[in-house]
Amino acid sequence: MRCAALLLSFAAVAAAQYRIERATSKINIDGKLDEPAWRAAAPAGDFHFNWFVSGDKEQTEAKLLWDDDNLYVSWRAADRHISAYELKRHGPVSKDDCVEIFIAPNPAKVTNYYTFEINAIGTMLNRNRSYWYTGGATWEPEGMVYRATFHGQDKKDESPGDRDWIVEAAIPLRNFSHDAAHTPPREGDEWRLNLQRLGGKTNAQASSWSPILPPAKSFHTPAAFGAVVFTGAGGGGGRARVRPDPDAARAGREIYNRFCTMCHGLDGANGDRAPALGAQRRYLRSTAGDLFDAIKNGIRGTNMPGSPMPDADINKIIAFIYSLRATAADVEVPGDVARGESVFHGKGQCASCHMIRGRGGILGPDLTNIAAERKLEDLKLALTVAQPVPPRGYAPVEVLLKSGARIEGVAKNENNYSLQVLGRDEKLHLITRGEIAGLKHGTRSLMPVDAAERLSKDEFQDVVAFLARQARRFW
Ligand code: HEC
Ligand code: HEC
Repeated sequence: MRCAALLLSFAAVAAAQYRIERATSKINIDGKLDEPAWRAAAPAGDFHFNWFVSGDKEQTEAKLLWDDDNLYVSWRAADRHISAYELKRHGPVSKDDCVEIFIAPNPAKVTNYYTFEINAIGTMLNRNRSYWYTGGATWEPEGMVYRATFHGQDKKDESPGDRDWIVEAAIPLRNFSHDAAHTPPREGDEWRLNLQRLGGKTNAQASSWSPILPPAKSFHTPAAFGAVVFTGAGGGGGRARVRPDPDAARAGREIYNRFCTMCHGLDGANGDRAPALGAQRRYLRSTAGDLFDAIKNGIRGTNMPGSPMPDADINKIIAFIYSLRATAADVEVPGDVARGESVFHGKGQCASCHMIRGRGGILGPDLTNIAAERKLEDLKLALTVAQPVPPRGYAPVEVLLKSGARIEGVAKNENNYSLQVLGRDEKLHLITRGEIAGLKHGTRSLMPVDAAERLSKDEFQDVVAFLARQARRFW
């Protein structure tokens, strides 16, 4: 384990790498990432906080795709405090919550690079840092289309509902014809680039996809750009894309448990000598092509050996790894989603405690993105089996005040001096110890677990199907 951890941490400092797949469906630039092509695309990987000082490290999920006309870029920025004010074309957008991509289309000349910086209300700044460009401090890319979540607003102030924001862009490849070997690129062409994020009033810290090591202090460090390779075949280097396939996954599990557990743990849990393949973390390798390559040929410079097994068996193992990683949003769930939605807001009374996309109550967790966070099994368990201990932030309390008032709700924060209770009335009550006459902690979560009894079999299944569609990527 120590050895593997060491290897992984070395990998984290090296320049980032990514394979840009060809888009498998048309992409509408609308600030939503709901096209099948985006859903299938692998995230580039965690951003690095190169110059971290303090505050929350909020992650960014970036993806890239291409077709004959465009390079497509998307950023999904987790952000509890979204603010942006710059409206002037080429203004200082990086003071606002802002995402960026710096692109060097010729890997032998990384100092020729093109910059795109876009804030949360859709103002862009572009520069062209190449030896041939004589157009001045800024640059006008041709034909670029892009959308930000708050596009066109005249400002975006921080607000309590802030969760995340997106920028989606199509950059015509002809903009790079001066420097790229081919436009459109050919299979295997390498470019260098970095993706970045910074700004805003709160948690303004800069992060980048490819790490920038000290003493470098700036995103304008082309030597630290990551390497991207264009791959034309789709689905990971020409091999069939592996779809969720329960039969293949079952067969793959047996093969896996026969050959791989000595290093990776049984059933894909953490092993002594190799990382868990199914735990809830970000993976270095996520496309079918990369997994195939790792299993068939091994990973050079590590203990991960190649395997002489038939390709079909390797694909079954990949189906198994996918099944371990799948959340509810990744699997087909039978049931009527629309009817599930009306049960959620009606007979099920779920919306009295849960919010989805801004609609509903706040006593329970917001379920807007629950299908991307939990496995299908966990969703069903949440509706039928009580948590042994109410989770943090949802512990039920009953407070009797010296004034005679009684407050029932969940404890959001509790210390020696005070208590914050989110009441059944959906108000946050700030109570000092001195005001309290009596305090009772409940042992059962407010989450009712009788849904399977209260609802008909079909209604229950429909609610589960509805929950399994609640992921931001479906919007
Ligand atoms: C001798 C020990 C060993 C055996 C046996 C082994 N692995 Fe690995 N595997 C490793 C190590 C170590 C790594 C981490 C390599 C690295 O740091 O990149 C790894 C990494 C991987 C990865 C990449 C994980 C990621 O997050 O990118 C996959 C996939 C994988 N192994 C699959 C398998 C499969 C499938 C088998 C069985 C056919 C197997 N391994 C057998 C040691 C082993
Ligand atoms: C009286 C308030 C209340 C009602 C009504 C309620 N819930 Fe919950 N729910 C909670 C609370 C509080 C939690 C968090 C604590 C826990 O998991 O026990 C929770 C947790 C959950 C979770 C797990 C969330 C996670 O992060 O894993 C799901 C899923 C869920 N509820 C769905 C539903 C559905 C569907 C209904 C309607 C059939 C429903 N809830 C009705 C209060 C409620």
